[in-house]
Amino acid sequence: MKTIDQLLADGVAGQRVFVRADLNVPLDGTTITDDGRIRAVVPTVAKLAAAGARVVVASHLGRPKGAPDPAFSLAPAAARLGELLGAEVAFAGDTVGESARATVAALADGQVAVIENLRFNAGETSKDDAERGAFADQLATLADLYVGDGFGAVHRKHASVYDLPARLPHAAGYLIATEVGVLRKLTDEVQRPYTVVLGGAKVSDKLGVISHLMEKADRILIGGGMAYTFLKAQGHEVGTSLLQEDQVPACQGYLEQAKAQGVELVLPVDVVVAPEFPDLKTKAPAHPTTTAVDAIPADQQGLDIGPESGALFASKIADSATVFWNGPMGVFEHPDFAQGTQAVAQALVDSPAFTVVGGGDSAAAVRTLGFDEKAFGHISTGGGASLEYLEGKTLPGLAALED
Ligand code: 3PG
Repeated sequence: MKTIDQLLADGVAGQRVFVRADLNVPLDGTTITDDGRIRAVVPTVAKLAAAGARVVVASHLGRPKGAPDPAFSLAPAAARLGELLGAEVAFAGDTVGESARATVAALADGQVAVIENLRFNAGETSKDDAERGAFADQLATLADLYVGDGFGAVHRKHASVYDLPARLPHAAGYLIATEVGVLRKLTDEVQRPYTVVLGGAKVSDKLGVISHLMEKADRILIGGGMAYTFLKAQGHEVGTSLLQEDQVPACQGYLEQAKAQGVELVLPVDVVVAPEFPDLKTKAPAHPTTTAVDAIPADQQGLDIGPESGALFASKIADSATVFWNGPMGVFEHPDFAQGTQAVAQALVDSPAFTVVGGGDSAAAVRTLGFDEKAFGHISTGGGASLEYLEGKTLPGLAALED
């Protein structure tokens, strides 16, 4: 894979360099609640700008439906990037329209612009090669060179991730190089026992990876939103908890597969429930109670793993040589449901194992809960991306940078 250093050695002064970043940061309105992903791309952008490139930064944010939606604007992320760079960052109000073209044309050597959310254009995520290709053609007119540095999105076969690098001379940025270097350690030379802790809310994305992870890990601990589909598969009622009803049979299959392969699949034994999803803005008391998993009331939803589960997960983590953690154990943004995530993060910090935290949400949780990032072996900016890498899949955004 060609690296940005090779591009820099060839000279980038005066060249328009398209940097595909992952600026998909958590927002409360227009306030960024964790800027880790923006900070992560600063070394690449700063180096290119210092070398005289005209840097065009692009990303997705959230999952808008292929049309402009102000709730998903990248304007706050562009402003934060400017603060972190200590330089003015121009912002284009569209992706490949008049604003983007004019903004890029106005860039002087060493200046940086951010274009609007790529997913405001249906071509970005289209499953149709021609539609994606047409959008990539338009994006290609904005740049002379391409740098892939949006590690969090490399598992997406999207126009800016997969199709655009085929149209421009390309290289991997510093973030992708670092992430791949660390994850390689978890695939090529893993120390055992190897424990994977899975949680988070993107349930359907993650259920599928469990089967593959069973080939690699000795133990899989499951909390967060996906735990309830597993608890249902074990025969428990889960009240109004997040549930992928159609995945219950698959989860039954995973439980059986784990048994057959001798993989320890550990589920919560107690959970914290409440009558409704908490208000994350006001953080008003949410009336939580703790219940065993076989006694979840019909009108309550599980929003965190309980203290016994936290202790159980911590004991499994303590007895590991390698731990990969993806996804919070509960709605950690609300103090009533942060304990499970806190317990897992603390167990990682206390463990002598090589620990990797994967994913925007887990990384944000670690920082929000006040942990020192340096206490972890590595904090990855990519959740789904790191999981798919560990599964051994070919990631479109990495494959596209290969040749
Ligand atoms: C992430 O948050 O994992 C990445 O930014 C990818 O986002 P996506 O799951 O919406 O593609």
